[in-house]
Amino acid sequence: TMVDKGGHKHFMGKEIAEQPRVIGEAIRAYMPDGDTIALPDGGFDFTAVDRLTLVACGTAYYACLTAKYWFEQLARLPVEVDVASEFRYREPPIPARTAALFVSQSGETADTLAALRYCEGKASSILAVVNVAESSIARESDLVLPIHAGVEVGVASTKAFTCQLTVLLILALEAARQRGEISPERLADVLSQLRNLPAVIGNALDTDAFAAHVSNELAEAQDVLFLGRGLMFPIAMEGALKMKEISYIHAEAYASGELKHGPIALIDSHVPVVVMAPRDALYDKTVSNMQEVMARGGKVLLISDSAGIEQAGEVWRSITLPRIDPLLTPILYALPAQLLAYHTAIAKGTDVDQPRNLAKSVTVE
Ligand code: G6P
Repeated sequence: TMVDKGGHKHFMGKEIAEQPRVIGEAIRAYMPDGDTIALPDGGFDFTAVDRLTLVACGTAYYACLTAKYWFEQLARLPVEVDVASEFRYREPPIPARTAALFVSQSGETADTLAALRYCEGKASSILAVVNVAESSIARESDLVLPIHAGVEVGVASTKAFTCQLTVLLILALEAARQRGEISPERLADVLSQLRNLPAVIGNALDTDAFAAHVSNELAEAQDVLFLGRGLMFPIAMEGALKMKEISYIHAEAYASGELKHGPIALIDSHVPVVVMAPRDALYDKTVSNMQEVMARGGKVLLISDSAGIEQAGEVWRSITLPRIDPLLTPILYALPAQLLAYHTAIAKGTDVDQPRNLAKSVTVE
């Protein structure tokens, strides 16, 4: 397929900007009538399984880690998540009534495909969340769940990640519905907020100019820490991965509660700490973590909603996102994570679309 940059300097910038539209397309594909979920190809019976195993590599792995929170919280379905290269060689036992779900933008990642083949004849069914619907992983699965992101060219995945998250959230909601774990009222409420998500994502893109400004400062750093709790922990990991991949700045993500178990030793005025934290039930704990960082001279870049930013008091820098249902926050907070990495890479002058040593699709081990 021929695609161009559509007036953008990089494919990555174009693909970030496309997210309101492609997330909207994913939502329409899975909610064609606007208020009920319809899975492709006859769907899937989530009452026929007792657990899920999610396997992927790279950015898709962080989509799986996010989905674990959704499936466990919404559908009370236990979830195991693994990177494909570990899973395939560990050869884990697959208990009866386990569905294995593979997430892959390309559908061709060698380790993910090998992990899928390991599950053949062991898992009760094999599901694939893919962008390329005519890929090897799609062909070898029982049910293909396309993410509708369109062709992604930038090596660092952006729109595929948020579309993966969108489809995985819808799957978790459907699992919760089938298993009687969500009330019809709550389901209707979440689905109506999902319909509104593309507009909210559009608003988040308005932080682009400020993200570019902060990124000029991040570009001076040798190390950046990302912190998040709950659903924000995998998004912090994705933010750190993006930063490493394209700006070549060393970045690590920690669960906020782990701060005092190691990373706090690294904090000084040279280490920016990106805190991803909507004001949710655990926000007070995150505020204490930020105070611990600032007491040691650390520079906190807080990404939150206006209520969270107000409660935090004075921080080094902040990016304000719209306030939405906590369930949807991973999709929204992925955007500033992408924008910070993107603009930091531009500030450093690295090759944004073709970062050194990386490939879009890793089809050999
Ligand atoms: C490579 C790409 C990443 C991607 C990962 C998994 O490392 O650079 O952007 O997340 O492979 O690829 P997949 O196609 O399986 O999602």
